[in-house]
Amino acid sequence: MSISIVILAAGKGTRMKSPLPKVLHKISGKPMIYHVIKEAQKISNDINIVLGHEAKSIEDIIKKYFENLNFYYQDLQKYPGTGGALKNVKFKHEKVLILNGDMPLITSQELKNFKNIDADIVMSVIELENPKGYGRVVIKNDQVLKIVEEKDANEDELKIKSVNAGVYLIKKELLEEFLPKLKNENAQKEYYLTDIIEYAVNKGYSIKPLFVEEEDFKGVNSKYDLALAEEIMQKRIKKKFMQDGIIMRLPETIFIEEGVTFEGECEIESGCVIKGDSYIKNSHIKANSVIEDSHIEYSTIGPMARIRPGSFLKDTHIGNFVEVKKSRLLGVKAGHLSYLGDSEIDIGTNIGAGTITCNYDGKRKYKTKIGKNVFVGSDTQLVAPVTIEDDVIIAAGTTVTKDVKKGSLAISRVPLKIVKDFYYKFFGKSH
Ligand code: UD1
Ligand code: CA
Repeated sequence: MSISIVILAAGKGTRMKSPLPKVLHKISGKPMIYHVIKEAQKISNDINIVLGHEAKSIEDIIKKYFENLNFYYQDLQKYPGTGGALKNVKFKHEKVLILNGDMPLITSQELKNFKNIDADIVMSVIELENPKGYGRVVIKNDQVLKIVEEKDANEDELKIKSVNAGVYLIKKELLEEFLPKLKNENAQKEYYLTDIIEYAVNKGYSIKPLFVEEEDFKGVNSKYDLALAEEIMQKRIKKKFMQDGIIMRLPETIFIEEGVTFEGECEIESGCVIKGDSYIKNSHIKANSVIEDSHIEYSTIGPMARIRPGSFLKDTHIGNFVEVKKSRLLGVKAGHLSYLGDSEIDIGTNIGAGTITCNYDGKRKYKTKIGKNVFVGSDTQLVAPVTIEDDVIIAAGTTVTKDVKKGSLAISRVPLKIVKDFYYKFFGKSH
């Protein structure tokens, strides 16, 4: 059975207390609404997104990730509320699944369960010890009779612990019949989608609850919720990788964004952060290293290394306090305290401690190229643009400002001077 999906994302998200629209706040490196759309696309070919507050900027960002979505702009002045949101939306299929853009933890697996219940409306219900903040659901003999918003509920209704998670599967014809009838005579002066339930009950339609877990249907309304949702998402992402064969030391201290891929035998030590579209194969990432948008294979990184976007590392050893940016390193050793930016370094080359590629002259960035089997002594500065050919020795402390030909030694040093007994002249003998 094909279904249409609508994702509501027009709300202002006032409780986030942020200039950034709510659904653009990130969970595991991707906007909240990205996660919802990604799951929705697994089960439907008709996905409709309702925007309102900051509509254009949200639409632009969504379009960077997805194609074939329909966008609608809600008239928030005239028709505020979740019912108002659906006013002009056109659906392809007979059944419509209604989702919220601020529910990043839903999965297509959970959404499929809605289709298994035979009713005119299936709605998600969570049983909560503390139902605060949610609409309360009145259920009798497995039939939903009514949803009461918290702000409109009386004392008895407030005690109800079955709450509306905000996801519904509903027949299109019911939406067409009841949406025009909604009124905004309530505490928030909004057109509540939830009022459809009572209309449908009165007309004899069947409305069944689907009991779900808060962990999957959690709405993010504040920055605290954002952190809670992040924790759940991170647990899922890392669990999947570990089940697929990745070793993680103290996984609760590791952060891995959606979009990262691993292959082969990899070990990730505690405190690592791996972001963007990074790809890591048969590598060992030691404690507290940060990797962004980079390709790493058959390498060891860290501890405490930083691999910035656009790097490609193969058969390479990167040690502590080494920063690599937009560089291609093939079979290189850079064990300590270096900056390698906009560089290409070839097989067998050793980078001594304290080597710096001076890639920026204050206006532009330039490249450093280093060939095979080069020995770069400690505390070397490579002033780019510069090319070091194969089999070169660069003496410790050298500032390289010219290209160096194959087989050469490059050395730039102030001659060493030794002054005998200077110490005693300066501090005196008794010292
Ligand atoms: C809604 C439900 C409530 C349920 C809760 C679950 C209604 C009237 N109430 O409450 O029963 O417990 O969700 O989270 O539906 N939105 C729009 N346009 C609007 C208003 C909201 O698109 O005019 C979108 C929001 O962007 C959000 C979603 O609808 O993605 C839910 O809005 P929100 O304000 O969080 O819902 P509540 O009023 O808290
Ligand atoms: Ca609201």
